[in-house]
Amino acid sequence: MARVVVGMLGLGTVGTGVVRLLNDHKAVTLKRVAVRDLRKERTLVPRCAITDKAEDVVEDPEIEVLIEVMGGEHPALELIVKALESRKHVVTANKEVLAKHGPDLFKLAREKEVAIFFEASVAGGIPLISTIQKGLEANQIESVRGILNGTTNFILSDMEQQGETFNQALAKAQKLGFAEADPTSDVEGFDVAYKVSILSALAYGNFVKPDDIYRRGITHVDAADLKHAREFGYRIKLIGRAERTNGGVAARVEPCLVPLDHPLASVSGSMNGIVVTGHAVGELTLVGPGAGELPTASAVVGDVINLASALKLQDFASYFHGEIGVDWQSVVSADQWISPYYIRLEVEDHPGVIGRIGSIFGANQVSIQSIIQRGVAEQGASIVILTQPVAAGQVDKAMEMMKSEDFLVKVGTCLAIFEGRNGS
Ligand SMILES: NC(=O)c1ccc[n+]([C@@H]2O[C@H](COP(=O)([O-])OP(=O)(O)OC[C@H]3O[C@@H](n4cnc5c(N)ncnc54)[C@H](OP(=O)(O)O)[C@@H]3O)[C@@H](O)[C@H]2O)c1
Repeated sequence: MARVVVGMLGLGTVGTGVVRLLNDHKAVTLKRVAVRDLRKERTLVPRCAITDKAEDVVEDPEIEVLIEVMGGEHPALELIVKALESRKHVVTANKEVLAKHGPDLFKLAREKEVAIFFEASVAGGIPLISTIQKGLEANQIESVRGILNGTTNFILSDMEQQGETFNQALAKAQKLGFAEADPTSDVEGFDVAYKVSILSALAYGNFVKPDDIYRRGITHVDAADLKHAREFGYRIKLIGRAERTNGGVAARVEPCLVPLDHPLASVSGSMNGIVVTGHAVGELTLVGPGAGELPTASAVVGDVINLASALKLQDFASYFHGEIGVDWQSVVSADQWISPYYIRLEVEDHPGVIGRIGSIFGANQVSIQSIIQRGVAEQGASIVILTQPVAAGQVDKAMEMMKSEDFLVKVGTCLAIFEGRNGS
């Protein structure tokens, strides 16, 4: 059997796993690997050339497939472009580059009749992308929604189970290696937004610009919210979604209250979980490791092996890229998103406050489903409200009006409640 010659950019967590899985593989030869620092101590040294000049890998004419597992936007983007221009196929785990430059990269790949495979870019070891692209080809995808970031899921699970604050849980995640020294991309939801952009390309044909995705992270979630959510029968999870909604596509990242009996509520710690809804198959839930050396390498090497098999087909170029478009996907305005909401207000404890809150909500067409009051030591009270489904814009207006009321100490939190389907 002819062997496929492969080069790799990066020998960190994922690259090391790839070397482990490719060692002695019958159909794939790893010829060159590029790193940033040749002096760094490695847990595994590949049995091939190692260089600190990434161009040496990209310019090697014998290499047919470039594996990009160096991460970051630059110079990964320029190296991928160079590889595509010289008609190399690309296997990448880089969600940031795909989400920010997907349309141009897929256009170039199509022009050059080469493929981009990217299974590891969303949900690590879970074969989510091939499930949507291949297994669900007969379906119109109604929604792809889930827990797509292990770091934030670990933090929220820890806050709930141990009663810790966000900062305590973040420090623990960093100590255990589940969070980066700079956790911004994870905790502010950027990482999930990149994945939502990719999921939109798979489900609806085009990537969404990351800046067009409604995004809220978890830094404002308070331990009190996790406790109240539990009282009402929910658990708080950071949910990313690409979803067909009234006349368009919604792309959102936000912490949501997930009902305890929904499969996503029991996805805890650093695991990922995704629910894909297709018009024919119904709801499909995938749960598994969204990161880590071998799980992520499993996705990368799976792509390389699938690519190696596809290369044997005569018309492989048409086989690869049918469904991913080269335009940006427009999304419906965040104000029009319909959901029930959980709202926590801190108020001064006088008579008539609950009546006034009810009037403000009523004036903005927000219907209350339930309301509870809890004492907050001497300072006042915490009022927790669950609303009926309502447009997000109406909730924002009610909150703005609430801010001018003397009784309001602060708007604690306002979170969407996760439902089966938007607005239904
Ligand atoms: N880690 C996961 O579990 C996971 C899961 C899913 C997707 N991903 C994605 O996979 C990619 C790699 O992640 P990772 O965790 O393996 O990263 P990592 O551990 O930080 O490794 C990055 C590797 O790239 C090398 N590198 C960085 N800049 C370079 C440059 N300019 N030239 C040559 N080599 C360079 C580094 O070299 P040195 O070793 O010399 O520093 C290192 O070997 C990222 O896109 C990430 O988002 C990771």
